[in-house]
Amino acid sequence: MSVYSNTVLGLHTYSHPLEICYFCNSNTESRIVMTDTIKNLEWRYAVKKFASDSILSEEKIDVLKQAFNLTATSYGLQPITLLVLRNKVLQSELVTHSFGQLQVAQASHILVICIQDIIDSDYISGYFKQIKKVRGTSDSILDPFKEAMVNEFSKKDIEEIRHWAKNQAYLALGNLLTVCAIEKIDSCPMEGFNPSGYVDVLQLESKGLAPVLVLPVGYRADDDIFSAFKKVRKDLKDSVIDVI
Ligand SMILES: Cc1cc2nc3c(=O)[nH]c(=O)nc-3n(C[C@H](O)[C@H](O)[C@H](O)COP(=O)(O)O)c2cc1C
Repeated sequence: MSVYSNTVLGLHTYSHPLEICYFCNSNTESRIVMTDTIKNLEWRYAVKKFASDSILSEEKIDVLKQAFNLTATSYGLQPITLLVLRNKVLQSELVTHSFGQLQVAQASHILVICIQDIIDSDYISGYFKQIKKVRGTSDSILDPFKEAMVNEFSKKDIEEIRHWAKNQAYLALGNLLTVCAIEKIDSCPMEGFNPSGYVDVLQLESKGLAPVLVLPVGYRADDDIFSAFKKVRKDLKDSVIDVI
């Protein structure tokens, strides 16, 4: 019997040693529900040492590409682009632009989440063309929405657009971290890098892309001591408030 049904019935009995009631306020037990989802999220950690010789399959990389593209974004505008890098020479070069973090050289692949900061009427028109292509919606229905969106974005300065686009990049990072956990792909989210160094090494200027987040992915090294560390998180009661 699932812990949830026990909880709903108010019985507070546990069918599995790890299934401890979230909702019970008993102070004799820490309250953790170990569903598969939670187990996967517990399994994930920010890897500090990857197994250099363990390479992700193309199928796994394809799942990550699709998951990135399926990320929800504000207005659906997707002002983000994912670079998928698998090149040990470039990866080693990027270490110096990543405050010496060796994960960048060791990981199977490096994902770099970039933003586009030019969201003008051409960009927005491209989005509406895609809606028309995919859904067959007529111009007469789409045009008022398109005009409103163009108008909205014409009022934002470049810093506002960058800030907005960065928020979308963080959403994509969260989505990728969760998908990595489900797919048993190891990862390390990273803000600790120098964007201008990445722009130079990856020749991003000509592509109009600004890197904002880096995500080395692959498989953890057997001797990554961080894999054995317990997760440090607030007590659930201090991070979640049930309003009833
Ligand atoms: C946006 C973001 C940026 C991070 N940047 C780095 C980084 O540059 N280097 C690093 O080793 N870990 C980095 N981390 C990992 C965090 O330190 C880590 O996620 C946090 O301590 C919680 O640990 P856990 O992910 O192992 O559960 C980053 C995490 C996030 C979400």
